[in-house]
Amino acid sequence: MPCTVIVGGFWGDEGKGKIISYLALKEPVDVCIRTGSVNAAHTIWYNGKRYALHMVPGGFVQGKCRLLVGPGANVHVAQFLKEVAETGVKNRIGVDNQASIIEEKHSIQDKSSVHLKGLGTTGWGVGPAIEERVRRTAKLAKDIAELKPYLTDVSEEANGAIAKGKNVLLEGTQGIMLSLFYGTYPYVTGRDTSASAICSEAGVGPTKIDNVLVVFKAFMTRVGTGPLPGEIPKEEAQKRGWFETAAGTGRDRRSAPFDFELARKSSTINGATQIAVTKLDCLYPTCRSAKKYEELPEEAKQFIGNVEKQAGIPVVLIGTGPEALDIIDRRK
Ligand code: IMP
Ligand code: MG
Repeated sequence: MPCTVIVGGFWGDEGKGKIISYLALKEPVDVCIRTGSVNAAHTIWYNGKRYALHMVPGGFVQGKCRLLVGPGANVHVAQFLKEVAETGVKNRIGVDNQASIIEEKHSIQDKSSVHLKGLGTTGWGVGPAIEERVRRTAKLAKDIAELKPYLTDVSEEANGAIAKGKNVLLEGTQGIMLSLFYGTYPYVTGRDTSASAICSEAGVGPTKIDNVLVVFKAFMTRVGTGPLPGEIPKEEAQKRGWFETAAGTGRDRRSAPFDFELARKSSTINGATQIAVTKLDCLYPTCRSAKKYEELPEEAKQFIGNVEKQAGIPVVLIGTGPEALDIIDRRK
């Protein structure tokens, strides 16, 4: 590690949750910081159980990991409390005093806006909640009685841990193509989702980052409306084994083949130093559950080689199945 940013390379749902849980089980990670908001669901398979986490950091699978929600994040109180109970992390999770709050009214505003509906938002209300923060009328975590036991200064904790050489993971949400700044505007989410924004939301400065790990799925998906280069019909996606439904909203995900030029651009904007490619077994079924690079068929190796060539950085982790440990780890 020691301080690593995990960022989505396409439109979210690249499998960041799986990569985070793998790292947290392997390293071990001392501190894991969630950014973003409740619209993003990170799917984690752990001990045969499936978790779709909207608020609790994916590092929870590591029993000693301190879990934090950053000051730039946007907290849904009921969802947070529900997940804390579900994952049993009450004694090791903290929320920054200054994280802003997303309320039921924001969801109502989101769902009743013709404009937002046209963008295919998740309906959680993240856009309206961020608008309120920008207007400086939003509630903060420190204003909420139920959050009192969890309040902390995340930047202090994170930088303190980094200074001691501990392993710190900054967990991004969605992907660069949904970024308010770099994505397919206006078909984007209400915030920047780049690696720089993840650092900013966690309260960790750029000089403290050792690795930026960009996560790509072996094919691309997006939910909601907006461009998806190379999109294939649903029937074709089903035939190829690429068809997915959203972990958060249950909506169909649209899909397209991997776009190497987009991957290059995404790696550049994020300043990525390493790549993780997930779901390689969906492109090459004989890869399923492989743990060694040598086990991969020639065409799969060629695909990985092309990703590295285009992006100019190494593919260090390769996902070959849904469980956290279904991974080829090429790091030394
Ligand atoms: P919003 O973030 O709910 O405002 O939705 C804006 C766009 O981002 C829509 O296209 C959503 O489908 C997409 N989006 C938001 N969160 C996620 C996510 O976690 N995964 C994938 N797409 C997302
Ligand atoms: Mg997701």
